Amino acid sequence: MTPQDQNKHLLEAQDEWPLSEMKKTEEHPNITIIAAASTNNALGKDNDLIWHIREDLLRFKQLTQSHAIIMGRKTFESLPKVLPNRKNIIITRNPNYTAEGAFVCDSLEAALALAEDDPQPFIIGGGEIYRLGMAVANTIELTRVHQHFEADTFFPKIDTALWEETHREEVPKSETQTLAYAFITYKRKENL
Ligand SMILES: NC(=O)c1ccc[n+]([C@@H]2O[C@H](COP(=O)([O-])OP(=O)(O)OC[C@H]3O[C@@H](n4cnc5c(N)ncnc54)[C@H](OP(=O)(O)O)[C@@H]3O)[C@@H](O)[C@H]2O)c1
Repeated sequence: MTPQDQNKHLLEAQDEWPLSEMKKTEEHPNITIIAAASTNNALGKDNDLIWHIREDLLRFKQLTQSHAIIMGRKTFESLPKVLPNRKNIIITRNPNYTAEGAFVCDSLEAALALAEDDPQPFIIGGGEIYRLGMAVANTIELTRVHQHFEADTFFPKIDTALWEETHREEVPKSETQTLAYAFITYKRKENL
């Protein structure tokens, strides 16, 4: 099956998905970047995550549930499988790429078009796709891990001239979690 046929097939099947419960909206979608990055903006190493923070994974699951999730091909391949109850959209330059249960496209614009029925599509990484996403996103949900890590993939610098921190929840180290981190929401200033 070609990637185009695969997308068509998935679109036709979508009525059977929990996604069909997503509210349709006439408003401009709230395109949201969701990421976990360290003090030095480290995101990943050797196509994997660097740390394990259970609360962060739970928050990711809760926020992205029933939404479209847009990711680069490398991030998709770092996952164990298609993430359930979400419209998985993979961006690749490979015209022959297919992945069962996922939409495949060749640009962020095409990914957002595939997500047009979602009022809040999420851009979930990795570094290359976040860099593209910074130009179009309205919201960043960032987990800032308060430690320096060696990495090969980094989150782009957040320009405070363009982005305003609107919410912050600091989570200190605990008996079960050796890392301190903060859940931070940024909104694009023109949207405030
Ligand atoms: N900490 C976090 O929150 C977080 C979140 C997600 C991922 N990660 C980590 O980030 C790393 C992966 O990130 P990454 O930057 O290496 O890769 P990535 O952004 O996940 O994917 C890169 C791939 O996307 C495709 N692509 C990129 N730009 C494109 C464009 N303009 N048009 C079409 N396709 C395009 C290309 O796929 P093709 O090569 O197939 O053409 C490219 O190789 C991993 O370590 C992962 O664990 C961390």
